[in-house]
Amino acid sequence: MFAKVSSLGLFGLNAFPVDVEIDISRGQPYFEIDGLTDTVIKESRDRIRAAMRSCGINFPVASVMVNLAPADMKKSGSVHDTAIFMAILRAMRMIDDVPEDAAFIGELSLNGDVRRVNGVLPMVMLARENGIKSVFVPEANAREASVIAGINVYAVRSAEQLILHFRGEEPMTPCEHYIPPEAAYNETLDFADVRGQQSAKKALEIAAAGGHNALLIGAPGSGKSMLAKRMPSILPPLTFEEALETTKIHSISGLLDPDTPIITKRPFRSPHHTISSAGLAGGGSIPQPGEISLAHNGLLFLDELAEFDRRTLEIMRQPLEDRKVTIARASGTITYPCTIMLIGAMNPCPCGYYGHPKRKCICSPKKVSAYLSKISGPLLDRFDLHIDVAPVEYDDLSAKTSEESSAEIRRRVMAAREIQAERFRGTDITCNALITPDKLREMCPMDDGAEAMMKSVFDSLGLSARAYDRILKVARTIADLNNSEVITRRHVAAAAQYRSLDRKYWHE
Ligand SMILES: Nc1ncnc2c1ncn2[C@@H]1O[C@H](COP(=O)(O)OP(=O)(O)OP(=O)(O)O)[C@@H](O)[C@H]1O
Ligand SMILES: [Mg+2]
Repeated sequence: MFAKVSSLGLFGLNAFPVDVEIDISRGQPYFEIDGLTDTVIKESRDRIRAAMRSCGINFPVASVMVNLAPADMKKSGSVHDTAIFMAILRAMRMIDDVPEDAAFIGELSLNGDVRRVNGVLPMVMLARENGIKSVFVPEANAREASVIAGINVYAVRSAEQLILHFRGEEPMTPCEHYIPPEAAYNETLDFADVRGQQSAKKALEIAAAGGHNALLIGAPGSGKSMLAKRMPSILPPLTFEEALETTKIHSISGLLDPDTPIITKRPFRSPHHTISSAGLAGGGSIPQPGEISLAHNGLLFLDELAEFDRRTLEIMRQPLEDRKVTIARASGTITYPCTIMLIGAMNPCPCGYYGHPKRKCICSPKKVSAYLSKISGPLLDRFDLHIDVAPVEYDDLSAKTSEESSAEIRRRVMAAREIQAERFRGTDITCNALITPDKLREMCPMDDGAEAMMKSVFDSLGLSARAYDRILKVARTIADLNNSEVITRRHVAAAAQYRSLDRKYWHE
């Protein structure tokens, strides 16, 4: 007896349809699943057998052949458990019918419970595109699935519940469509807590306004970590498309909170400096997204940048430029997006006081240069703004006046973002940092003074072509913050001033 049931699989961020075909015939008792890796098959067989027993059904004493198509796509076994289970029941004629436009995803536990799986959001999105009308998902994933409108989502608790539904004894009702809350600002911490540090705050405002990468460098206790952690509070809210994209990545990583199935706040990821290359950029035998992709559409903060393994940092170079990470495996190439703002923070030397206006640095010049050389030239080049964080002045710390709040800074950031939205209408570009080389001239018009300034900066700083582009984009953002369509000499000078660290620390 033959039966066919639909399921869904996942390869990287992309879902694909899976057909579970089953044939039960008389003969030697036998249970084989084709289309899965060997180790997964055994576990899957054991779970399905046990789940059937828990529902009081004897596994057929017959030759049971399951085929998961397409054969050439690598499948993680557990997600197809409920589909295989349904196919067996159908082939045994224990249920009348399984509609062709229904799909099943979920892992069975030995006692017949249906367990959560990763990647439900992209799978349900694909199901809807492919004309599937109903999806049966684990209850723990149901809210995530019901973000997608136009498809019936059934929350399944147990294998038994599926049987009762399809026998018409206890039909389930589809979940209500989940309407996500309005996109929110990520404002757990406020810039008002940081006393003084006006120039560092101004620089971070520019970074937020244009989506530029920034490196904070300064003595211990000057407030670098404090400043960086407040960045999310001045970034614009996620658009719905951005929220969906970011949620997909968290969905396949199994990091979604069952109660808040869609991420509405810009991600802020701050991995520890002991992180591995795979943890940062993505990888593993079943390639998982790394921190750089979990921060997609948000911020990746690398505190104590010089403490990270140098090779680990270097791996980020290409993804930072391409805005995607490509992981090659025998089973194919997986690509994860990583459009991020990178914020780094570090001391200038091992003791932390190199370049300090009052305290003496105790490191030898050799030690200082060894410390700084952990950040390679090409990586440094990717930081558009080098922010020198000076020690906090006593007067600032003890002042009674209140500091500007994140909400006030955000107002200016949002005004600059609106100008950008107008500029990039009809393109994929979302902020100045993402202007593509072919649009650079047209979108960053300079007056004569600015052109002359750019030339002199380029020559005197010995800049790379990449640095030139990046300075121009920062100047574009500074001009936007000042509501100026054309980039002037003043804007270029201000932008170039943020490249001062390579001179001060690296090329002395
Ligand atoms: N500008 C400031 N206003 C108010 N408090 C500050 C400021 N700067 C530092 N502090 C206080 O000092 C503490 C340490 O600051 P923070 O951790 O940000 O320093 P850091 O520059 O990251 O130092 P390190 O180089 O050691 O990592 C903060 O938790 C805060 O209490
Ligand atoms: Mg710190």
